[in-house]
Amino acid sequence: MAVSYVLMKLRCVLPCAVALLGIGMADAQSAPVSSIPHLEKRGKAMQMIVDGRPLLILAGELTNSASSSMEYMEPFWPKLAAANMNTVLAAVTWELVEPEPGHFDFALVDDAIREARRNHLHLIFLWFGSWKNADSTYTPLWVKKNPKQYPLFLAENGQSITYLSVFKEANWKADANAYAALMRHIREVDGEAHTVIMMQVENEVGCPGGTRDQISEAKAAFNAPVPKQLVDYMVKNKENLVPEFREYWQAAGGKTSGTWTEVFGDHPMSNEIFMAWYYALYVDKVAKAGKAEYALPMYINVDLGESIGGYSAGGALPIQLNVWQQGAPGIDIIGPDIYLPNFEEWCARYDRSGNPLWIPETRGDAANLFTAIGNHAAVGFSPFGIERQADATTPLAQAYGLLAQAAPEVLEAQAKGRIKAVTLNAQHPAETLQLGNYSFAFSMGRSRQPAPPATTAPAGAAGGGRGGPGGAAQTSSYAIVISTGPDDYTILGSGLQATFNGPGGSAAAVAKLEEGTYVEGRWIPRRRLNGDDIMLNYDAPNKAIKGESGQGFRLAAGAPKAVHLQIYQY
Ligand code: DGJ
Repeated sequence: MAVSYVLMKLRCVLPCAVALLGIGMADAQSAPVSSIPHLEKRGKAMQMIVDGRPLLILAGELTNSASSSMEYMEPFWPKLAAANMNTVLAAVTWELVEPEPGHFDFALVDDAIREARRNHLHLIFLWFGSWKNADSTYTPLWVKKNPKQYPLFLAENGQSITYLSVFKEANWKADANAYAALMRHIREVDGEAHTVIMMQVENEVGCPGGTRDQISEAKAAFNAPVPKQLVDYMVKNKENLVPEFREYWQAAGGKTSGTWTEVFGDHPMSNEIFMAWYYALYVDKVAKAGKAEYALPMYINVDLGESIGGYSAGGALPIQLNVWQQGAPGIDIIGPDIYLPNFEEWCARYDRSGNPLWIPETRGDAANLFTAIGNHAAVGFSPFGIERQADATTPLAQAYGLLAQAAPEVLEAQAKGRIKAVTLNAQHPAETLQLGNYSFAFSMGRSRQPAPPATTAPAGAAGGGRGGPGGAAQTSSYAIVISTGPDDYTILGSGLQATFNGPGGSAAAVAKLEEGTYVEGRWIPRRRLNGDDIMLNYDAPNKAIKGESGQGFRLAAGAPKAVHLQIYQY
């Protein structure tokens, strides 16, 4: 585990020890609000603040059933920590928390908190309440067996499906009641130690594409005017709505009153907007009931459709971003689960409308991690199925190791907007990146230095199957570039090289290049790099005559490294 992180966690030892000994915690409600983990705008970036300091969330999500057995989890906790994670996402399920109405059992929650503390990890709990991937499989049996009291979604063919209906007060009230009890308990056991830093409310909510619930309340709502709260917001923020939503509305005539069909058109997408609004209202009520007990940041995750196709309609898909923001103000972040290609494009679609980027589920691709953190000031990154990939030698673990060390500098650069990322691969082998006074011509290049021995992922770890890996074999080269002064840069990365030019392509060369590491967030220089290590080819004289620089830096493939670069113009 990174040294800086160990030191950070030492601050948690005393309260954690108190909790482990079972000594009563101080009343967290009397603690100042600012001491609760929270999101805070720092300069240009929204960041997670834990115990007064920003935290870059380097996380992984356990498979769905893992946290239902502490015996199953036991061997994984230390491995997760050794893989340089600082946070683990673990499910807490309604069926296990409230097996009988009003009878709560938080033993698994307490076990997870205890083990996380023992291993110097934070937790984000996923509330599998009314829905998990659209379905309601995690509701308690007393809910499942009583559809009269807790009604289900009625499909267009007249068939009830096992999804709780969003239109029934009894449903959200029962869910909110359990969730509030959970948050009350977390406050009681963790209101001081702050092992738990954020909550996910439900999981990938939604219903089949283009459809809507047909129970009588849903039909009545669909034939009623679009709520004023939504239309007023659309009118007021017309120019700032996400373009695909604004265009859809405008194409239907841009009306500012009328039924859902009148305002949005007679189209399956109007069903989805309608469902998105009502899912948002429901989830908001659950989130707010929880926040009333303990106001941790709360987010939802979004099913964008995995590679096998399909998506959950009514979830906060990009076109529904504003609908969800307006319908669920109790939700602080809308987080995309990105399993699809074009990772950066999906990041960009959620790095809009003031939504901070947080990737709750994805594959364990280190290049994507750097993209999210460097180009979109992401608060964090969390590959799914992480206990299956809890190995310190994976590319993801190595990338987490470096980012954990460099986190103070990375967070500062996010706040100042002085950070960018580049990803190269066989299809995209070169890219120019402009940051501060210089432009960097990145290429995959060939290292003269022997690359460190290739890391071998455990059997079955590589590849990108559904529900699969927290890590994957390295297929890309990647870097984060941080501007630390007019002529100074920190570069973190793997498998690439770059030359650079000053403003307008003017000549520039290496003033100083050093590799190093971080201790407690402080740069510790190691080798001073010159000669072969800054000459990217031996054709430099001819290049120089053509005005091209032959000088630059290389970052060998394998575990990412850090260099400090100072440039001069001549
Ligand atoms: C997305 C879900 O949110 C997760 O709980 C899990 O089921 C993954 N899909 C599996 O790929």
